[in-house]
Amino acid sequence: MLKTTPFRRLWYCTGLSSLGDWLGLLATTALATQLATGYQAQNYALGLVLVVRLLPSAILGPLAGAFADRFDRRRTMVITDLLRFLLFLAIPIWHTLPVLYVATFLIESIGLFWNPAKDASVPNLVRKEQIEAANQLSLITTYGLTPVAAAALFSVLALVSKALADRIPFFATNQVGLALYFNAGTFLVGAITVYFIKEISGQRGVPAGESQPSLWWMLRDGARFVRTTGLLRGLILGILGAFAAGGAVIGAAKTYVKSLGGGDAAYGMLFGTVFVGLGLGMAFGPRVAREVSRRRLFGLCIVFAGVCLSLTAIVPHVTLAMITVLGVGFGAGVGYLAGVTLLGSEIEDEMRGRIFAFIQSMVRVVMILALAAVPVLVGTIGQRRIPGIGGTVDGTRIVLFTAGILAALAGIVAYRQMDDRGHVPVLADLLTSLRGDSSGRRRLHSGGILIAFEGGEGAGKSSQIDLLADALRSDGNTVVVTHEPGATPVGKQIRKLLLDTEGPIAPRSEALLFAADRAHHVATIIRPALDRGEVVITDRFVDSSLAYQGAGRTLSTEDIKRVSRWATEDLVPDLTVLLDVPAEVGLARVQGRANEGGPDRLEREALAFHERVRQGFRHLAESDPDRYLVLDATRPIDELAETIRIAARGVLGSRRLPAKAGYPPPGERVRR
Ligand code: TYD
Repeated sequence: MLKTTPFRRLWYCTGLSSLGDWLGLLATTALATQLATGYQAQNYALGLVLVVRLLPSAILGPLAGAFADRFDRRRTMVITDLLRFLLFLAIPIWHTLPVLYVATFLIESIGLFWNPAKDASVPNLVRKEQIEAANQLSLITTYGLTPVAAAALFSVLALVSKALADRIPFFATNQVGLALYFNAGTFLVGAITVYFIKEISGQRGVPAGESQPSLWWMLRDGARFVRTTGLLRGLILGILGAFAAGGAVIGAAKTYVKSLGGGDAAYGMLFGTVFVGLGLGMAFGPRVAREVSRRRLFGLCIVFAGVCLSLTAIVPHVTLAMITVLGVGFGAGVGYLAGVTLLGSEIEDEMRGRIFAFIQSMVRVVMILALAAVPVLVGTIGQRRIPGIGGTVDGTRIVLFTAGILAALAGIVAYRQMDDRGHVPVLADLLTSLRGDSSGRRRLHSGGILIAFEGGEGAGKSSQIDLLADALRSDGNTVVVTHEPGATPVGKQIRKLLLDTEGPIAPRSEALLFAADRAHHVATIIRPALDRGEVVITDRFVDSSLAYQGAGRTLSTEDIKRVSRWATEDLVPDLTVLLDVPAEVGLARVQGRANEGGPDRLEREALAFHERVRQGFRHLAESDPDRYLVLDATRPIDELAETIRIAARGVLGSRRLPAKAGYPPPGERVRR
């Protein structure tokens, strides 16, 4: 992915900006304690810096997101980086607490505009299937690489400025100054880099001539979208649950570690372990849970993290606590990545900025609440004697345990809101995934095989289907032959509407009718047969819609793909045989069949339509060569049949002998 130049540059910026952020956090907290005197005052000063950092997003978050959707993202990013550059310079120059607070507040506020602009532009720089990897990379960069790098850099800079203090008096009173100057520099470099990534602004802006919607309208629109979309409600609930639990952990951590008999070192180790877990989750989670639907994965991870947190609350020893805390981090890491990926791939470009920002600000609000509430709660609960156990139980344990349970509940509710695979038991989903069968979700159901035949009019699909079915049956397979549209009683009525209607049908309506037929076909014929482990051969499938309604009617292929995915619940054939025939030849063949009561509505379409359809099919095959067998349908029937047989047996063979993937070389027969 880093080969994509614009993305690579954006990645540098993300890394740099995040390095700046972490370094800034370390430097400003250090500076706050330096500028205040007395233990209590130092702690208050430090706490205030943290609150000031979290506050802006609570207030400004949604506004910033609408901004990212409305204004040129590149310009937004360049300007915000320049402003942050100046503000970071201001802190060491003025060197007072008030300036520190104000600058920190402003820097954070400005970061709110930078982040959604950055997040929302990633999907424009990479292909859709790369979004997850892209998110993974930037999350690992932000929460794995840069915090460590920033900590190291901070120590080095502190040493350097100490050394310089002898010669230049400025550094004697200003030990963190160097870190802050460096920090300012990262934003300057960031601004320059983004300036040269022209692709970021690529798809932005409302087309000229259309009036721009107001910010307020966009905000309301975004809020309505959140309210009415189950996926989002689930996502938001899960993310908030996870972060509330996270806030509880941070708020309770010190006292908790004490209750385990640990000191500062143990505290540091536990804290580090959470980050290690997060990193591991983000890095390996998607690989471990390859085939589990992202929507399910998300809820499951939150539940997992919640349960681990509750366990953390009851373990008696630091070593055990490290294991459970690792689990908390891991669950949160996988869940966060799955969540961000879902947002990136399922939410339209014009909404994304607002949604990202909305979530980020909600997250901060929840964190502030948790951070504020937990110490109070812990203090109120105090240490209690629990009857029956004998010993005393620390207040933190009760709070942590409850937080874990609440997070798990949020995960369950999120799971239910988002589940897209209600008919597949979740355990089967998980087990198949862990077994590492990478051949697609449908395998979860069975060892069945789906073969689709596609092609224009008069390509000779039916004859080839009959020949293949006979051959596979004589091999001892149970074969179901079916077709679209109209293989079911409901489908027959839809087919009548589609093909026998006299006048034209609106293209979208036509596409939806084919999809409706297909959804019923998959649910009542194809899936049950696959679940029984049978071979299903279908005359036409999703690709027909992509070619006829997409290329033929010139609807957006993306839209049709999305509708089809939804209609079939992501069912993809194991093999698609494309019988390719020039449009004139095919149409002439069809017209030769005098016995079928004349051409139907689609056969009557112009030659140009059918030529587009043919090109549509060929284009589909080219973009996924592994799944297609493209054949010149003007070749002799027997020859074609032989080639198709070999390919089909190849797929069946590779299924049953997992070691032999792919098709056999032409001419070689696979013995079952
Ligand atoms: P049918 O008589 O079954 O066609 P054929 O013998 O050519 O396979 O009629 C199906 C017609 O419907 C055919 O012209 C292709 C068209 N069609 C679509 O336009 N979209 C689709 O999704 C499907 C399945 C078929």
